[in-house]
Amino acid sequence: ELELHPPKNPWSHNGWFDSLDHASVRRGYEVYKQVCSACHSLRFIAYRNLVGVTHTEEEAKAEAEEQMITDGPDEAGNMFKRPGKLSDYIPSPYPNEEAARAANNGAYPPDLSYITLARHGGEDYIFALLTGYHDAPAGIALREGQYFNPYFVGGAISMAQSLYNEVIEYSDGTPASASQLAKDVSTFLKWTAEPEFDDRKRMMVKAIGIFTILTMVSYYAKRFKWASLK
Ligand code: HEM
Repeated sequence: ELELHPPKNPWSHNGWFDSLDHASVRRGYEVYKQVCSACHSLRFIAYRNLVGVTHTEEEAKAEAEEQMITDGPDEAGNMFKRPGKLSDYIPSPYPNEEAARAANNGAYPPDLSYITLARHGGEDYIFALLTGYHDAPAGIALREGQYFNPYFVGGAISMAQSLYNEVIEYSDGTPASASQLAKDVSTFLKWTAEPEFDDRKRMMVKAIGIFTILTMVSYYAKRFKWASLK
């Protein structure tokens, strides 16, 4: 079956002690919000999760308030809409899977919260997929609403290319080339799937420090205790 392996990229978070690039995570949120969220949900991320990672508390509140959230039932038993709060999860573009498929030629745009863990290749796969659209080579038959992408299993994907140079403008002024957009949204999706990523690396530094000291102490203690028996 036709499928290319995504190339491995030199992500700035690759090293043992390297945290995620938070400016990139923030830009990636902007890409998700302005492009991907038209079709993909991010059901496991709440606005409060952005606080201290990509946004200040005030900014995250403002992000939430831009969205109208369905809440209820109220005392009369009715559902109602209200502006979002920090505790709300990012709203989904479609009410259910049938509606999502109906809008996408029968294909289902998966929730992106854990996509870097759910797909082999992680953030390298997401980057390759988003930047990997080509004209179909001779002999590849595409159905209505399908596009050629060699990184997708089978090569025919029901998602059109969505990232082009300057398709959005970044709030921090970074030039929004297609590959920059793809890099940032891939880094953002790495964070949504592994929000504990930075903590884990900090723990690693602490653990190495502590175990180094313990090893030295026990080596010295062993030499000391056994000295008279040698
Ligand atoms: C599939 C990411 C924008 C519609 C996917 C997949 C990923 C993804 C990772 C899964 C591929 C797989 O199964 O291995 C993104 C990102 C976007 C974006 C990061 C923004 C930069 C969009 C938009 C639409 C869309 C705007 C709708 C207009 C779909 C559909 C599928 C899909 C229908 C299922 C494709 C299939 O199963 O053939 N997307 N997407 N996506 N996406 Fe997107």
